[in-house]
Amino acid sequence: MTVTTTPCTRPLPKPFETSSINFGAEISGLDIENLSDNDFELLRVALYKHNVLVIKNQHRLSPRAQCELTRRFDPDADVYSHGKTIDKRSVLHKDLTTIPHQPQVQVIGHGQIESYEGLTNLKLKHPHHRVFHKHPVPEADDFHKTHFYRWHIDSAMYDLDPPLVTSLLAIRVPTGRRQLCTYDDGTGDEMEVPLGTTAFFSGYQMYDLLSEKDKEFARTSQVEYAAHPYIWMANARSRSNGLGLYCDGLELADDQLPPVEPHKIKRYPMVWKNPVTGQLAMMVYPTPARRIHLQDGSVIDDLAEVRQTLYRMQRPAISPQFIYPHDWEEGDLVLFNNHGVMHSIVGAFADHEVRLFRQCNMAASRPPLGPD
Ligand SMILES: [Fe+2]
Repeated sequence: MTVTTTPCTRPLPKPFETSSINFGAEISGLDIENLSDNDFELLRVALYKHNVLVIKNQHRLSPRAQCELTRRFDPDADVYSHGKTIDKRSVLHKDLTTIPHQPQVQVIGHGQIESYEGLTNLKLKHPHHRVFHKHPVPEADDFHKTHFYRWHIDSAMYDLDPPLVTSLLAIRVPTGRRQLCTYDDGTGDEMEVPLGTTAFFSGYQMYDLLSEKDKEFARTSQVEYAAHPYIWMANARSRSNGLGLYCDGLELADDQLPPVEPHKIKRYPMVWKNPVTGQLAMMVYPTPARRIHLQDGSVIDDLAEVRQTLYRMQRPAISPQFIYPHDWEEGDLVLFNNHGVMHSIVGAFADHEVRLFRQCNMAASRPPLGPD
């Protein structure tokens, strides 16, 4: 006999009184490891309606079950979003450790872990904005102040298409400390965040905040991404608010990259459609963006102009009132619509603060849905 459950959703807590976040929900009442097709459909619809779902108390979820749940959103997907191996020159190389028996699942975190899921003597390092930002928070303020590391879509942006859905499971979380995340971009914006939060903004909100003229530009333009982007950007430095790179001519030239196969270069619409609600999201990953292709066939090729154009369009949506910084508790499983929200790692841990997470996503079986 099939037992039909009724999942219950409730909005995520507002990070502060005047916050305007309009996405995210906590969902309960589903047996995540034994979802019937009907229950899964309820979960899928809830995900695309709320775009970030938090499911509490999933301590016991195995890496295999996490992978199977994540794959259910795209049954033809199989390979981890960044492929089977990550080039040593890639900026991602040091951030990800693959679980040997479940290669679509990565261990991420901070500190020393003796053994976990077949991995031993793990020395994890939470990416610190110091290694990527042009103007990091001074060492003396590092305990209290931090930056958004890099606003991104989980994706290789070359050869492989962005996963539909990412799952993140918190195994160990150091608690009790908060940090001040400063934008340092001339606006004075800042927000208090839980230590090691994952911060999200909505691409739907980003699109809605555009002027009518920019909405049309976004709906009719496409963004071409750099080949081997995480190697290409290895020497470049980020803005302090994590939204793209400075133009200092530090990107690697083609002859410094692995061989480029032109058919693997990705070009996506600026606007992606939600498959359930039909809403439009501005989904542009600014860091690896290389060119903008306009409707009339012309191309913005100048990197500084590409970055300035995107920054002007995207910056309003990362203001504090539009950010949801998740306050992780052990056992939290977060599923997010990787074609509708963007996210950033935040924060800096002390040496003794141990954080252990599992991340799972797979390169999508199809490119993102454009606006038409
Ligand atoms: Fe990510």
